[in-house]
Amino acid sequence: MFRPVLKDLKAIWVLDSRSNPTLEVFAYVQRKGNIYIDSFIVPSGASTGEFEALELRDNEKDFHGKGVSKAIKNVSFILDHLFNTYVDDIFEVDRKLIELDGSKNKSNLGANAILGVSVAIAKAVAKSYDIPFFKYLSFWTKSYDYYLPVPMMNIINGGVHADNDLDFQEFMIVPLGFDNFSNAIKASSEVYNTLKKILKENGLSTSVGDEGGFAPKIDSPFKACEFIITAIEKTGYKAGKDFFISLDVAASSFFKNNKYIYSKNPVDYKELMNIYEKLILNYPIFSIEDPFDENDWDSWKEFTNKYKSKILIVGDDLFVTNIERIEKGINNNIANAVLIKLNQIGTLSETIKAISLANANGYKTIISHRSGETEDNTISHIAVNNSYFIKSGAPARSERNSKYNELLRIYNFYNLNYYSQAYKTISIIQN
Ligand code: PGA
Ligand code: ZN
Repeated sequence: MFRPVLKDLKAIWVLDSRSNPTLEVFAYVQRKGNIYIDSFIVPSGASTGEFEALELRDNEKDFHGKGVSKAIKNVSFILDHLFNTYVDDIFEVDRKLIELDGSKNKSNLGANAILGVSVAIAKAVAKSYDIPFFKYLSFWTKSYDYYLPVPMMNIINGGVHADNDLDFQEFMIVPLGFDNFSNAIKASSEVYNTLKKILKENGLSTSVGDEGGFAPKIDSPFKACEFIITAIEKTGYKAGKDFFISLDVAASSFFKNNKYIYSKNPVDYKELMNIYEKLILNYPIFSIEDPFDENDWDSWKEFTNKYKSKILIVGDDLFVTNIERIEKGINNNIANAVLIKLNQIGTLSETIKAISLANANGYKTIISHRSGETEDNTISHIAVNNSYFIKSGAPARSERNSKYNELLRIYNFYNLNYYSQAYKTISIIQN
């Protein structure tokens, strides 16, 4: 028998990009007498959806309450139950983890402890077979279609990720009109640096927000889009051909007492929808994420009916990578794309199930980082295997670039195609 067996799990804390501690889990797997070790560092969100799996923090004095020593202890507890078991079936491993936790939202052991173990084991097993992780995932996704994903790069930050007055959280560039991944990244980096120059020329700050995008003191999404269009054109590219714009509104973060607080004023969903309409009319908008609150299904539905043939409508806080919520969306014709974050649901196999469910129903999937990130680049492999888009912040700061750089390695060493059909998709959508 040459099946991989779990021999050890070690969890330590390391620092994320916001100087908060997070878990790194190492899995030790034995196969054919050899030990293979791999690890995963769990990311952490700030605009977390109400329905996300629970990230276990100590809530004690250390690290302003954000310590993870309880989660670290829980990894030892997990080891006691998985030691010396076969770990070559991710669905089986994750089933055991979910059972050990026993809660609906992974609040007993913590989604951070569970996810750390789930992914670290899968990566160590892939190593024991000597295959890259994106190929190993094919056993479970049944997808052998490998593409370099189209990046959505957040170059102007607002919302809870920045100290400015922009209500919307993310303004992204989407390099759709390029023939390969490397050219797409090169052009995006050029646009990023042009934007920096333009902001400076306008007397605005070029300091950055949590995801590496600039956080100038502006307060209008129209102004943000203007700056981006100018940066694209000044660099020598065409907006609406080479680059499109994506927005993550993260509307749950400014929804108070049944109103959306836009420009410091409470507005209703209709007024917010008018703002989106103006943006869609004036700029080459590719997608809008979380246009409404995570409980405001009716507004989502109305918006989807109106715009589903024009843009991607992405559910992040709405779906939280959760199959039940994605199913509700599918059954009610709500949104047409799903943001995928491993730690929203808390295991690798549940993440894969969410992706497969979305794909099977014609919903696009976007594999996403969190605002609190590290050098870990595992999500790049997940994006290559079974998704066509990746969102990892600006093409700046190493915790963001670690994902794009891993994709550049995959591009250069495996010579995969860029997901250029994305361009076809949007041109169909826009006509
Ligand atoms: P978060 O933000 O990681 O702070 O949740 C990312 C997003 O909303 O997409
Ligand atoms: Zn989001």
